[in-house]
Amino acid sequence: MKILVIGSGGREHAILRRLAADHPAPELHAAPGNPGIAQLATCHDVPVGDLDGQVSLAQELRPDLVVIGPEAPLVAGSADRLREAGFVVFGPSAAAAHLEGSKSWAKEIMAAAGVPTAASVTVTELAQLTSGLDRVNPLGDVPFVVKADGLAAGKGVVVTSDREAAILHAESVLTAGGQVVLEEYLDGPEVSLFCVSDGTRVVPLAPAQDFKRALDDDEGPNTGGMGAYSPLPWAPAGLVDQVLTTVARPTIAELAARNTPFVGVLYCGLALTSRGMRVVEFNARFGDPETQVVLERLTSPFAPLLLAAARGELAEDSAPTWSEDSAVTVVVASAGYPSSARSGDPITGIEACEALGAHVIHAGTASADGTLVSAGGRVLSVVATGADLEQARSRALAATEEIDLPGSHHRTDIARRAAAEAARAAEAPRAAELAPDATPDPAPDAATAPTTHGAPEETA
Ligand code: AMP
Ligand code: GLY
Repeated sequence: MKILVIGSGGREHAILRRLAADHPAPELHAAPGNPGIAQLATCHDVPVGDLDGQVSLAQELRPDLVVIGPEAPLVAGSADRLREAGFVVFGPSAAAAHLEGSKSWAKEIMAAAGVPTAASVTVTELAQLTSGLDRVNPLGDVPFVVKADGLAAGKGVVVTSDREAAILHAESVLTAGGQVVLEEYLDGPEVSLFCVSDGTRVVPLAPAQDFKRALDDDEGPNTGGMGAYSPLPWAPAGLVDQVLTTVARPTIAELAARNTPFVGVLYCGLALTSRGMRVVEFNARFGDPETQVVLERLTSPFAPLLLAAARGELAEDSAPTWSEDSAVTVVVASAGYPSSARSGDPITGIEACEALGAHVIHAGTASADGTLVSAGGRVLSVVATGADLEQARSRALAATEEIDLPGSHHRTDIARRAAAEAARAAEAPRAAELAPDATPDPAPDAATAPTTHGAPEETA
C-alpha cells in the first residue's frame, strides 16, 4: 500500500512512524515532511498550504490513501480537492473541519446534538464584552475563559482570573476583526480522546492527557501542548463509552444529517468537571503531542484502520488493541515559545537521547547545510515507554536532558501526579496485605476512588 501524509510536524512524524511499523510496511511519502520524517518516508517539497501542489503530487504518486495531518489544509479544503481528484482521503472536508475552524459553529453543533459543553456567549463587538463576561461568569469568582473564534494553533485561548487581562485578550481579537467566544470556566482534569470516523461509524482510540500550559505546575500561557501521557490510570471506568455515547456519536450524526459527514479524527477535548463531563473543544485531526503517546501504544494495524475510515467502511466491532505499557512524551520548545519562538538554533544530543531507549519525534526542525536546526516553537518531542507511568516519565525526562538546543525549555512534571497517584493506588492493597489488622486509610486518594470528581487535576 502506498500512503501520502500531508504535514511537517510532530503529529505527522508520529503517524508515519506508526504506519512504518505495520506489517507489511506501506510505502510512505510525506509532503513536505521534516528531517525526522525523511528517515521513514520520501519527502516531497510541497508546502502544507499548497493545495494545488498536493493534488499534483497525488496525481504523480497515485497513493492508495492520503492522510492529512494539520488543521490548516483541512479547513482550507485540501481533503475536498483530493477527493474531487479521485483519491481516498483520511481527513474531513472543509465544511466538516469547520468544527475546529470556528468555535462558535462547534457550539452550535453541540447544542443541536445535545452534547454537554461549557455555556458560552459569542461576542462580535467591543460593546458586548462586559455584559458577555458577566453572563458566563456572573460572580467573577472563577477564571474567565476568552477564546478567539478561528484557528490559533492552541494559542487563541486565555484562561485568567484577571478580568482586565480577559478584556485585553478579547479586545485584541475583536480589533483584529475576529469574533470572541466567552465561556463558563470548567474545573477538573482534561482528557483527549481521538475518535476515528468514516462519516457515520465511530471507533475510539485510547485516551491521553495533554499539558497545555508552558511551564511546570500549569503556570504560564497556553501552548499547543508541552507533553502528554497515556493511559490514564485514574480515568473513571466507562469513560470512553460515555464519550462515544454522549459526545462522538451524536456529533458525527449531527454532521451527517447536515450533509457534512466527518471522515477522519474527531478530537474530543474533554473536562471531567464536578458537574460531569463537558467538551472543552473539538479538533478535526489528531492532537499533537497526544498522537505521539497514543500511537506508541497501538498494537493493531494502523493503515487498515485509516483506510477503512477513508473508504466509509469502518467496522465498529473491530476495536484497536493497546499495549499495557505506559507512554510519556516531553516537548522541547524553542527559546521564547509560545510568545515568540526563535528558529535556527542547532540541535544536538538526539543520538544520546535515543541511546537511553527513548525516541525523538521531530516537530519543528529543519536541515541547514547539513546541520539540524530548530524551525518552530515546538521543536522535538521525546517519547519513552515503561511498565508504568513512573518508569515511562523518568525515562522520557532523562532522555530529554540529553538534548541540547540553546535557550530551549521543557516541562518536568508531565504525568507526575498521575504516576504518583497510580503508585499510591498500587501500594495501598500491598500495605493492607502486610498489615491485615491495620485500620484502613479513611481518605482513599483519587486514583483508588476514580470518580469524575476525584481524578487528579493535571491541567487547568
Ligand atoms: P481550546 O483551544 O478551546 O482547547 O482551549 C485551550 C485550553 O484552554 C484547553 O485545553 C483548556 O486547558 C483551557 N480551556 C479552554 N476552555 C476552557 C474552559 N471553558 N474552562 C477551563 N479551561 C478551559
Ligand atoms: N494538543 C492539543 C492539540 O493538538 O490541539
